[in-house]
Amino acid sequence: MVFYFYKHHTRLNMKIEIPENKRNIPSLFVCSDGTEVTSAEDWMNRRRPEILEILHREEYGRYPDMSDVRITMKVVAERSGEKIMNGRAVRKTVEVESVRNDRHFIFSFDVFIPLNAKKPVPAFVEICNRGSMNCDPAREVLSTFYPAETIISRGYACAAFRTHEVAPDYEEGFQTGFHRLFPEISENRPADAYGTLIIWAWAASRVMDFFEQEPMIDEKKVAVVGHSRGGKTSLLAGALDERFALAISSCSGNSGDAITRGKSGETVGQILDRFPYWFAGNYKKYIGHEDEMPFDQHFLVSLMAPRLVYTSTKTNDAWADPASEFETLIQVNPVYQLFGLEGLQQTERPLPEQPLHEGCIGHHHKTGDHNMDDYDWDQYMDYTDRHLK
Ligand code: GCU
Repeated sequence: MVFYFYKHHTRLNMKIEIPENKRNIPSLFVCSDGTEVTSAEDWMNRRRPEILEILHREEYGRYPDMSDVRITMKVVAERSGEKIMNGRAVRKTVEVESVRNDRHFIFSFDVFIPLNAKKPVPAFVEICNRGSMNCDPAREVLSTFYPAETIISRGYACAAFRTHEVAPDYEEGFQTGFHRLFPEISENRPADAYGTLIIWAWAASRVMDFFEQEPMIDEKKVAVVGHSRGGKTSLLAGALDERFALAISSCSGNSGDAITRGKSGETVGQILDRFPYWFAGNYKKYIGHEDEMPFDQHFLVSLMAPRLVYTSTKTNDAWADPASEFETLIQVNPVYQLFGLEGLQQTERPLPEQPLHEGCIGHHHKTGDHNMDDYDWDQYMDYTDRHLK
C-alpha cells in the first residue's frame, strides 16, 4: 500500500510506503476507533499514546503511582587526576535514594566526563545487566561491553548503572531493590503491574535526571544503550522517556526488537517460563496465542519516532533471530516518513559488517555470537558522531 498526503508543517510532499505485512501484525497506523493516522501530529497526539497504553497493559506493566515517593540524588564522590583514566576524565559517583513512608532503597551509578571539553558533551547511559566486572567504575577490569575509556576519548561522557542494584534479576517475589517501596503491590500484583524491565528503564531515567543537572553534559544528546535484556530495557527507556535522543539496542530479540509473530528462536512461552518477573502478568495470556496479541514489537520501536533508534544483531544469535529483528525496522520505517524523515536507508537486510548509518533508524548485523563488543560500540559512536554531534 502506498498513500500520499501533504504535510504543511514539513518540507516535503511525503510518500508513505507501508511495507508488506507478511506476518499479519497489527497496524501501526490504524487507531483503535478504526480511523487512520495521516499526519505526524495525529501520530503524536492519538496513536502514540494508544500504543504506549497497549504495551503497558499487555506486556511490560505500568509504573506504580510514585507521587508519595521522595527521590533525592547526590554526588557522593568525585575524583579526577592520574588515577582516573590517566587524567582524561572526572568520575562522579551518584547515589539515588527513594523514600516512601518508612521504606527506602538506594542505587548508585558512576559517570565519567571528559576533562578537556570546551562545551557540554553528548553522553551514553549504559544499562549494565551483566556482572559488575563489565562496568567496573575503578577501571581495573576493562570490558568491551562498556569501553568507557574509548567513549571518553571520542568526546562523550558516559554513565553505567547495574540493573541488579535496581531490581533483582531472579524471581524473589518482588521484595528487594525498588520493589521494597511498594509492598502492597508485591503482595497482590494486578495483571498490569510493572515487571522488572520497566523498573530498570525507570533507573535509566534517573541517570537522565542527573545529566540534566550536570553542566558539562548536553542532556539533549543522550543515548541509552543496552544489550539483550538490557537492550529490551533501552528500547523501553527510550519509549517512555522522550528526553532520550537515541535508544541503542543490541541483540534484544524476543520482547525487544524482534517481531514475535513468525519469529524463530525464543517464543513468548519460553521467555515467560524463565523470566516471568520481567513482564506484566497479562503477557501470559499470549503464550501459544501470539497471533492474538493486539501489538507486536514494532509497536515498541515505533515509539522512538521521530527520535533516533539503532539496533544491532549477530549472525549466530538464532535465539534473538536477526531476520525478525530487521523486520521490525522495516515495519517502523513509515512512521519516520510521516515526520518527513528518512528512517531506514534501505529496506533490504544488509550483509554482515555493512552498517546502515544514514537514516534515523540505524542498524548493523555483525558476524559472531550474542554479545555487545568493541565493533558494536565503534558503530554506535560512528552513528552518534553523525547524528548527535
Ligand atoms: C536469555 C533470554 C533472552 C535475553 C537473554 C539475555 O537468553 O531468553 O530473552 O535477551 O537471556 O539477556 O542475555
